[in-house]
Amino acid sequence: MKIQTLSYLQTQADDVVKVESVSKNRLLKNSIHRQSVICESVVISPLDRALNYGDGCFTTMYANQTHISLFHRHLQRLQTDAQKLMIDIDINLIKQAVLLAAQELLNDDTTQCAIKIHVSRGVGGRGYQLPDKPTPQVLISFYQANPFVTKLCNEYQYRLQVAQLQLSTQPRLAGIKHLNRLEQILAKHELQSLDANDLLLCDQANNVIEATAANVFVYIENRWYTPDVRHCGVSGVFRQAVLDCLTSHKLPAIIKTLSIHDVQNAQSIFLCNALAHIVPVSHFEHNSTTQTYNMQHCMDLQDAMQDWLLPEHQVWHLHNNKDVL
Ligand SMILES: Cc1ncc(COP(=O)(O)O)c(C=O)c1O
Repeated sequence: MKIQTLSYLQTQADDVVKVESVSKNRLLKNSIHRQSVICESVVISPLDRALNYGDGCFTTMYANQTHISLFHRHLQRLQTDAQKLMIDIDINLIKQAVLLAAQELLNDDTTQCAIKIHVSRGVGGRGYQLPDKPTPQVLISFYQANPFVTKLCNEYQYRLQVAQLQLSTQPRLAGIKHLNRLEQILAKHELQSLDANDLLLCDQANNVIEATAANVFVYIENRWYTPDVRHCGVSGVFRQAVLDCLTSHKLPAIIKTLSIHDVQNAQSIFLCNALAHIVPVSHFEHNSTTQTYNMQHCMDLQDAMQDWLLPEHQVWHLHNNKDVL
């Protein structure tokens, strides 16, 4: 496995892109001497299978100068996704590379960023045929990101519609955050010409699955529901965190097939992902009718999630973590 780390975070001096290639020995050496793990150039082969076929998976995490949010859950999903695609990665090595770079880059109070870990099966094979002994390529990149907390004020509006594009069903790939994202790209294109903040994507049986880059929860008669993603959709890290938070508060959290009608009749609805966290929806427009929602349930859940996340963030505090390096 080969790991490369790059940063698109702005430094004070200039807007620098720094890149490094890390071998296992180098990484271990760095973890002792704390030398920079960020260096000058990234090499991606034109024969890389992620580039040619989307043969890989990824995860995107929120981080600030103290912690990487839900870090262990992201690593777990990446490992599970890679296993499902039969890509052999060393998750501990990836963890160390992310932490080393994060400790180096995120030392300023104002730094907030998205960290993306991108895994490719590597180079080789004939056409789609898998190479005999692939060397997986891991790319870790740091991007500037805005604060994720949605401030609800009187003027707050988040408008949702339904995409014409329907997701295809593929149980072997469902749940995986794989690199084939053409459906989401077509849906984002649809969104560009509409007066909406996001779109609900349904499967071909018109069941609601998720939004363009987020999972969805609806509140109906005192219970939170989220769609099943066993046939299509992404099994979001934040979706699972919400389900676990609700369970820890002994609140009902139900995975269920949901229709557009359920969404129209819901009292509240929110979208969620690992960068935006909980995004309450104010309006849902469909077939010339507009549904408005009570956002108090979402705000209550936002508060509960913040408390629930605190211990996790202490465990993964970037600069106090003895377990890490
Ligand atoms: C299509 C799709 N569904 C769901 C999610 C939510 O996943 P996570 O909570 O892991 O960010 C994402 C995140 O980007 C996504 O792109």
